[in-house]
Amino acid sequence: TLPARVRLVEVGPRDGLQNEPVIVPTEVKLGLIARLVAAGLDGIEVGSFVSPAWVPQMADTPDLMRRLGPAPAGVRYGVLVPNRRGFEAAQAAGAREVAVFAAASETFSERNVNASIAASLERFAPVAEGAAAAGIRLRGYVSCVLGCPYEGAVAPSAVADVAGRLAALGCAEISLGDTIGAGTPETALAMVAAVAERVAPERLALHCHDTGGRALDIIRACLDRGVSVVDASVAGLGGCPYAPGAPGNVATEAVAAMLERMGIATGVDRERLAEAGRFIAGALGRLPAPPA
Ligand code: HMG
Ligand code: MG
Repeated sequence: TLPARVRLVEVGPRDGLQNEPVIVPTEVKLGLIARLVAAGLDGIEVGSFVSPAWVPQMADTPDLMRRLGPAPAGVRYGVLVPNRRGFEAAQAAGAREVAVFAAASETFSERNVNASIAASLERFAPVAEGAAAAGIRLRGYVSCVLGCPYEGAVAPSAVADVAGRLAALGCAEISLGDTIGAGTPETALAMVAAVAERVAPERLALHCHDTGGRALDIIRACLDRGVSVVDASVAGLGGCPYAPGAPGNVATEAVAAMLERMGIATGVDRERLAEAGRFIAGALGRLPAPPA
């Protein structure tokens, strides 16, 4: 049965803008985040405390957090942290939610964080301890849940294993990332079924990149299996800089429109969301997402 309500997690300022070939000015990020809040999005991933040499697009996150100030009542700003150092910086910047990120594929893990899956999970232990001690919400990501750009197919059991470890670390929510948009509703359902044996579906989120154009079909299928949190990116930000025209994360506008048609509440004002999309598309010199 479908959920009555879906919580949307807006990842555009982080996952979208980290993939832009240009470094978006902090001022523009602030304008985008303000418009997303105005649109009723109450979970917004705003940046990352990672190595600025690895992801220069996120290097302004400490300054961005300072200028954002505390999140408005009822709103959560999330940030990615890969290790203790990132956590300490995030905590100093006043973060109330941090996300650790692991992968279900060894090669992707090496390329993304220069560590094996096991070593990356070890780095998260002090993050989890620090977060628990400070009452900071911990989110966890698993990448490559429906395919890896280097290894191809990924076994559902490998995803379930990493998701189970993140849950054991204390992640309140685990986001399952179809990093390269390789999934289909069928492969997604098999993966979610395997993960649900380790982690209750209420703790799961879906994080679809829309490279294959099947993200909405995957989301719709999984909502029927107890998943009720969906990550999305305003204006479908996040296209690969090396593949012009390639779609990025599934567009928040498209997910919100689909859920509305399905009679599922999101709390999002679609007019204002469209305005946020036009704002960032304009700033990037892009066409906004087509009307959903
Ligand atoms: P490393 O080179 O193995 O680690 O990188 P290191 O400890 O040797 O550090 C290298 C340099 O980074 C040093 O600086 C450190 O001080 C610095 P240097 O001495 O060379 O000047 N450093 C840091 N700086 C700032 N903040 C930190 C930090 N830690 C070390 N926290 C590391 C390992 C994890 C740091 C690196 O690989 C990294 O930053 N990777 C980030 C990759 C990333 O952000 N990827 C994108 C996010 S994941 C994603 O998008 C997927 C997702 O959307 C879900 C999906 O779609 O699947 C979440
Ligand atoms: Mg992503």
